[in-house]
Amino acid sequence: MNLYKYVSEKINEKLGFNVNLESPRNREFGDFATNAAMVMAKSAGKKPRELATELVEKLRELDFVADASVAGPGFINIKINDDFIWQNATAPKQMENTAPQIIDLDYGAYNVAKSLHIGHLRTSIVGDTFNRVAKFLGNTAYSWNHIGDWGKPMGLIIAWIERHNPDLPYFSDNFDPNAPVDYEIDEKELNTYYPAASALAKQDDAFQARAQEIKAKFQDGHPGYFALYEKFLAISLDAMNNTVKRLNILPFDYDLGERNAAKYLDDVEEILRDKNMIYESDGALVINVKRDDDNAPMPPYMWRDSRGADTYDSTDLAAVYCRKKTDNPDKIIYFTDLRQSLHFEQLFRAADMSGIFPYDKFEHIGYGTINGSDGKPFKTRDGNAAGLDDILDMANDAVRERVAESGKELDDETIQSIALAAVKFNDLLHDVRSDYVFDPSAITSFEGRTGPYILYTAVRLNSILNKVQGAEFDVQKEYKLNADERNLLIQIMDFERTILSAFENRATDMIANYAYDLAQLINTFYHNCPIMRDDIDDETRAGRLHIVRVARDTLARAIDLMGLQIPSEM
Ligand code: ARG
Repeated sequence: MNLYKYVSEKINEKLGFNVNLESPRNREFGDFATNAAMVMAKSAGKKPRELATELVEKLRELDFVADASVAGPGFINIKINDDFIWQNATAPKQMENTAPQIIDLDYGAYNVAKSLHIGHLRTSIVGDTFNRVAKFLGNTAYSWNHIGDWGKPMGLIIAWIERHNPDLPYFSDNFDPNAPVDYEIDEKELNTYYPAASALAKQDDAFQARAQEIKAKFQDGHPGYFALYEKFLAISLDAMNNTVKRLNILPFDYDLGERNAAKYLDDVEEILRDKNMIYESDGALVINVKRDDDNAPMPPYMWRDSRGADTYDSTDLAAVYCRKKTDNPDKIIYFTDLRQSLHFEQLFRAADMSGIFPYDKFEHIGYGTINGSDGKPFKTRDGNAAGLDDILDMANDAVRERVAESGKELDDETIQSIALAAVKFNDLLHDVRSDYVFDPSAITSFEGRTGPYILYTAVRLNSILNKVQGAEFDVQKEYKLNADERNLLIQIMDFERTILSAFENRATDMIANYAYDLAQLINTFYHNCPIMRDDIDDETRAGRLHIVRVARDTLARAIDLMGLQIPSEM
């Protein structure tokens, strides 16, 4: 049950007006508080305390209210009835939504022939959590992996391979797609081509021109280039799948990127031409997306580059067109690095002006950078920009060290899931938009606001439940709650509200912090409320086991929404 929602609706109904209800962290004076009497006093022609006293009388009539009282200048404190808490604290279920939305989420968006960098970590973690949360809240969410599989890098890579293996048949205009070619590419090596080629293109104009020419011909369907592309594409898609598995993110609903979007370019171009939106500029075709009220520079959106090739801009607009046709979403949300903000502002404007998709149904969530302790983008020990695998490896090492120090023995799989939880939880804990410092040692601590602490708490509850497995316990209609049990159940009843508000505010940190608060209350309960000890009577034991079950299910749900996995031991 969403306690806050229930209580506030019932109070509004009872009093006949909408009150502003708060749930103070410190519950010494009540579980909820309202300043309603102070707000309404004037219009009611009464003194705040006088009105508060009247309202308190009415509130006491509500069956879930144990007590209501006036405090200070006219605040009202409300305490919830223990029986009501006991009977209504249940584990969260998949929510029903009376106004579900279709939401397209664009995240991941990995690139062909480029190893995943640290930036892909945040888009994957945050995007995946929003996907899970959107679904949990009863929406229809589709995840789109807008793979970079069509643009400039393809030209550079093919040009690079041509330069080093000029005799391969792919480069001939008469390439025969049916003739076998004896040529294999290794993944590690493939990942070096793009950086090398783009560095070379910066110094060597002829190479740059060649890459652009190849890109244009490739996009026009040159059979040799295409066959070569298919070869490295397969390697990259495999690598992406491994990453998805390694990160434990939900499989993408669509692995359709730039290349797929390119199929819709002609349709979109027709719309743009109909609306007179395309014009020529320095040999390129562009769209003017400026507005009269702009006070920052707003460069034109690049429809075709000067060689007539498709661009990141054009395929992104075509992708919107495709999604509109495929899912007809109520919203499209993009998760990328903050530095792409201008691109998305341009895209949203172009889509809006062309009538393809309205501006106000787009959203771009730009995330900040993962830094080292020097405040600069995180680097590995040898001074290179860290890749996604480097980050995960470092977290793995840190967990392994801790586990060895503690004298425990955990298998590799467990260590990996703890390390992944450490990285993901820490990411979700930070405001999406802000930068944060990556400290492998701090995030893998088994205490404090960390992923391992959350998992440890869940493992602890599971181990209690495993011990009593199968045993039936009579859960009584009534049970006398002590303060630790009560606090825990109230937190459990705040789950739904937290998730709703985390989604509305696009704030994953609310989920992470909720999980931490819940874990703390669970551990306090665990320490203060023995369950299996001999002196515990049956009724108390059954009651506490029920609490353990509900708490475990609630924590497990939060853990799942964050994309973490509970190990069987820790
Ligand atoms: N592939 C791009 C990158 O790695 C991100 C693409 C984001 N999505 C989009 N529809 N533009 O930077």
